[in-house]
Amino acid sequence: MEKANLDWSNLSFAYKDTDYNVRCYHRNGEWGELEVSSSNTINLHMAATALHYGQEAFEGMKAFMGKDGKIRIFRWEENARRLINSAKGIMMEPVPEELFKSAIIKAVQLNEKYVPPYGTGASLYIRPLLIGSGPRVGVKPADEYLFMVFVTPVGPYFKEGFNPVKIQIARDVDRAAPQGTGRYKVGGNYAASLGSGVRAHDEGFAACLYLDAKEKKYIDEAGPANFFGIKENTYVTPKSDSILPSITNKSLQQLAKDMGLKVEQRPVPVEELPTFDEVGACGTAAVISPVKEIQDRDTGDVYNYGDKPGTISTKLYHKLQAIQNGDEEDQHGWVLTI
Ligand code: PLP
Ligand code: COI
Repeated sequence: MEKANLDWSNLSFAYKDTDYNVRCYHRNGEWGELEVSSSNTINLHMAATALHYGQEAFEGMKAFMGKDGKIRIFRWEENARRLINSAKGIMMEPVPEELFKSAIIKAVQLNEKYVPPYGTGASLYIRPLLIGSGPRVGVKPADEYLFMVFVTPVGPYFKEGFNPVKIQIARDVDRAAPQGTGRYKVGGNYAASLGSGVRAHDEGFAACLYLDAKEKKYIDEAGPANFFGIKENTYVTPKSDSILPSITNKSLQQLAKDMGLKVEQRPVPVEELPTFDEVGACGTAAVISPVKEIQDRDTGDVYNYGDKPGTISTKLYHKLQAIQNGDEEDQHGWVLTI
């Protein structure tokens, strides 16, 4: 397979066209055929609920090229189930797991020449998305849905890569309400985070760190990633109903246990920030982004974790990547080789 002509080692997390994407409609109570398209646009009714009432959910996952020339997809079942959950959360038609699986495999295989070569640090980002495509003018769920998958080759989400970033606590913005949609991967959550995210960037930070909306007492998560802290041989990560259940975080918790660390998933008060030895943001796009500094925009408090990635974060990062690339045995059955 001839590879696309790209500067693989210097890719950023940005959209690049590939050759094909896949689509499937749910109409009249059933899913249709999976269609392959070479167009990057869709033809959409102007009254589609996705455009008016936010019926949109997406997923993010990655495919990796191994040393053995095989392509590996990480924990697709988890993403499939989360999309089902997101769909139900905003009254959309859930995509059956098997349809999800065939769509992502097809999208990856058709674009094999865009899977970044082993050793470049890049991967093929897979973006499944589901939208209400049927027209409504009253506030009601659509009667037609469109499921799509596109792929795009990417490098690190934060330009720093595996180098520590600064993040900013913003108390004047809520990303998600306590009983709202924060636990679903729906577009509206990201719309709610754009203003504070752009401001954080303008003020020199890689991302915003949100606190719980009700009390502003506990850490929720960063704009595009979950939060973790490490101290006393323990991996600590927030438990909250308004954050996305990150598959990377879940995997890191398992890897931390495998390494003999304790794992605590519980409310994490802001006052605990000075006690961590290491802090990181984790997610599919972010992988692990070590955090060197957290600034509280409103109180002026600053928390520092050092300019170098911490020992445990580094170990976790390498272990996760080794499994994803196929360099190490996939003990937990996380990887689908295609
Ligand atoms: N939190 C938010 C808000 C996200 O957008 C993401 C990215 O998917 C994550 C956390 C990390 O989740 P995952 O590890 O499943 O990619
Ligand atoms: C991911 O990590 O897959 C995400 O969706 C985060 C961000 C790009 C929204």
